[in-house]
Amino acid sequence: MEIIFATNNAHKLSEVQAVLGEGFRLVTPRDCGVTEEIPETQATLEGNALQKARYLYERTGRDCFADDTGLEVEALGGAPGVHSARYATDGHDFAANNRLLLKNLAGQQNRRARFRTVIALILNGEEHLFEGIVEGRIIDTERGAEGFGYDPLFQPEGSGSTFAEMDAAAKNAVSHRGRAVRKLAAYLHGIDK
Ligand code: IMP
Repeated sequence: MEIIFATNNAHKLSEVQAVLGEGFRLVTPRDCGVTEEIPETQATLEGNALQKARYLYERTGRDCFADDTGLEVEALGGAPGVHSARYATDGHDFAANNRLLLKNLAGQQNRRARFRTVIALILNGEEHLFEGIVEGRIIDTERGAEGFGYDPLFQPEGSGSTFAEMDAAAKNAVSHRGRAVRKLAAYLHGIDK
């Protein structure tokens, strides 16, 4: 079965393809002639994931899914949340985002945070949402060189390492995205029987 995943990021694509397995062939928007940037202008992760999936479905009429992720920090009222990519600047400047996060948490004892991923699937015209959450805390100084984004500052519950100190397999086993994608995979395999 072929399904469109709303990403042109080859790394994300192969990661998700590995979890879904051989029964599902992922294709990109570009493969389907959607070359423009897909809008994500909503105020929530759910809103953005649905907006991207609906955009693809309206243009292609094909089964598709989209994801959106945010880092939600308790002491900051859930920020940066849906604005995680553009927290400090207009672009995806990970170093500036991490600096701003540490500045906004300076002197703060409550370091609780979580990553949350929402996946919106449109299958046979019907919408489904899947959520993956990993709880953890924001440490005081960056550690590790793996991963991307806020990984050097995020230590998942029950681990002494940050995400940036884990290899991809160890991170996937507990991560927000890994959990959401495994829920999607379980659902797709269930209906594929
Ligand atoms: P996206 O929805 O996957 O594009 O994620 C939005 C933003 O959240 C990214 O630009 C990163 O700043 C942050 N982010 C998402 N997933 C991760 C992760 O696994 N580790 C660290 N940061 C992440």
